Amino acid sequence: MAKNEAVETSEAQIAVHWQEEEYVYPSKEFIEQANIKDESIYERFALDNFPECYTEYADLLHWYKKWDTILDTSDAPCWKWFVGGKINACYNCVDRHLENNKNKTAIHFVPEPENERIEHITYQELYVRVNEFAVLLRDFAGLKAGDRVTLHMPMTEDLPITMLACARLGVIHTKVFGGFSGRACADRIVDSQSRVLITIDGYYRGGKFRDHKKNADIAVDLSKKDGQEVDKVLIWQRYPGKKISSTPLVNGRDYLVNDLLKDFRGKRVEPVSMPAEDTLFLMYTSGTTGKPKGCQHSIGGYLAYVTGTSKYIQDIHPEDVYWCMADIGWITGHSYIVYGPLSLCASTVIYEGVPTYPDAGRAWRIAEELDVNIFHTAPTIIRALRKIGPDEPVKYNYHFKHMTTVGEPIEPEVWKWFYKVIGKGEAVVVDTWWQTETGGFLCSTMPAIKPMKPGSAGPGVPGIYPVIYDEFGNEIKAGEGRAGNICIRNPWPGAFQTIWGDRDRYISTYYAKYCKDKNSKDWRDWPYLTGDAAMEAEDGYYRILGRIDDVINVSGHRLGTKEIESASFLVQEVAEAAVVPVADEIKGVVPDLYISLKPGYEASDELAAKISAAICDTIGKIARPRKVWLVSDMPKTRSGKIMRRVLGAISNKKAVGDVSTLANPEIVDEIKKKVSS
Ligand code: WT7
Repeated sequence: MAKNEAVETSEAQIAVHWQEEEYVYPSKEFIEQANIKDESIYERFALDNFPECYTEYADLLHWYKKWDTILDTSDAPCWKWFVGGKINACYNCVDRHLENNKNKTAIHFVPEPENERIEHITYQELYVRVNEFAVLLRDFAGLKAGDRVTLHMPMTEDLPITMLACARLGVIHTKVFGGFSGRACADRIVDSQSRVLITIDGYYRGGKFRDHKKNADIAVDLSKKDGQEVDKVLIWQRYPGKKISSTPLVNGRDYLVNDLLKDFRGKRVEPVSMPAEDTLFLMYTSGTTGKPKGCQHSIGGYLAYVTGTSKYIQDIHPEDVYWCMADIGWITGHSYIVYGPLSLCASTVIYEGVPTYPDAGRAWRIAEELDVNIFHTAPTIIRALRKIGPDEPVKYNYHFKHMTTVGEPIEPEVWKWFYKVIGKGEAVVVDTWWQTETGGFLCSTMPAIKPMKPGSAGPGVPGIYPVIYDEFGNEIKAGEGRAGNICIRNPWPGAFQTIWGDRDRYISTYYAKYCKDKNSKDWRDWPYLTGDAAMEAEDGYYRILGRIDDVINVSGHRLGTKEIESASFLVQEVAEAAVVPVADEIKGVVPDLYISLKPGYEASDELAAKISAAICDTIGKIARPRKVWLVSDMPKTRSGKIMRRVLGAISNKKAVGDVSTLANPEIVDEIKKKVSS
């Protein structure tokens, strides 16, 4: 297999060796009930009909005022969708469903402790709770349209209520993954200039109670040091009115939401009619430099795109019970737990805890009890479920019509287990490839139209035109058997607007590489660089091979290798650090960390543990290295560059190749010995 030079040193090797698989076809029953049954959608979304085709998605929404311009390219490559339109995301996800469906469940909240009952929140109840909290945000916290608020919350129903309350006012929410540290939270507070932090006292995960409030104290202190003052911390309670966290409240800064809410019972606020092009939220993601990028998503374009793709790719009907196992702290949760499903008036499941807690049957008991029929998860979770309970699903009486996998390439073998055992051979599978930046799906099969192919995401979804370029900008064609940089030819409404506060970085990271003319206002000159390597098969299906930049994908989530490396420098003994991805049975990829120490320091297990702890404190446990290897020196080129490729080969027990040109080739054997012992 010919391989692109640029993908050689990265994690983009995972899926290269897989065979092309046979097609698997959707059942007649699925096709009969599907939202889209015929190929004509591809014609409607043909490039010739671009950008007008996307009004089909916008028409799924309620607009206070229709747009004047569908796509405005005058500020290329910051594309503006539905310009002149006025809309409110909360109205579309809540208010508009009341007339016909106020008694329908909007959110099923499943607590992790199994002795606690599942809560079923109707659209009417959601409306009441969102309104009361929105008035609190306005009148108590003083927030107004355009302000940013940081949310550091786990998976409880308070989280979508908070997001929707912000959206109701036009306040921009920036949600930080609940498992991230206080430090990571502080970085996002500072970058987004939030003066209000919303959090919770605690929650359950893996059978343990987690005191979450203490992270807020760390986050607020560190933000202040970095120049951003937080004047209010609003704290939800896992059990309203009951004290479960021992962390004290700070007078004049910390407020329990449930105390404040007493003053706002029965209060309502009209949704603010917002320009479609204003910002709905920021979602931070890792890039090649240490600093996370605040991906800025619009209201109108984003909501149109996630509503359209939820309807056609997820095949959500209002009567469906939809369970996406992702965390709302990632883009998957924003688009396909909260905004997409609620906009379509579905019932969406929010599960607090670990899918395999307390045992391998938990997920299937939830599916059975709630009669879930659409199930959305990630390869890392599928692998974990398969490992601990390969025969478990058959014991439970649930039936999925549709299943989604997202976040990283899925091995054909794991795909087949997902299909046969979890899906019981009844459900279609869509492998959806996309990114934080893209707001919604880029490649996937259309479930009732295109057959599935294990290991391949599929063709571009309607309206998305991928193209693969080599390093020199030549197109690599379908069926050539070569990998390259996968780009998208055209803009689409779900795409992020820019990086918050850093337009230059937005352009240089995503558009500079293959831009045909920097002064052009024509979208055809600005292909979007995804940063993934991919191959296109003869049938137009794309197989995604992984990241080509310095980012590794752990359990389907991007972590910057530089972020992890710089966290290790907080330990003063550290001289040099290098992170490499290692293939992992469950998580897909995990980081291995190589460290060389400053002169005069001795390697020890304690020191390795200290470095590991520094990384968990700075970023969160998700970034914990598999191993911290303390080595006497790093393999280096003559110009002094650390050869991560060599370290990666050693960690993955692969051949290191020719190292004779290194400045210090002898170190390679020494490190090899250490790692293999
Ligand atoms: C990166 C984006 C998309 C939401 C979750 C992660 C990888 C994502 C797939 C897939 C192969 C995939 C890519 C992408 N990825 N989905 N179906 N097959 N790879 O969002 O943290 O922004 O990560 O995840 O490498 O660039 P994210």
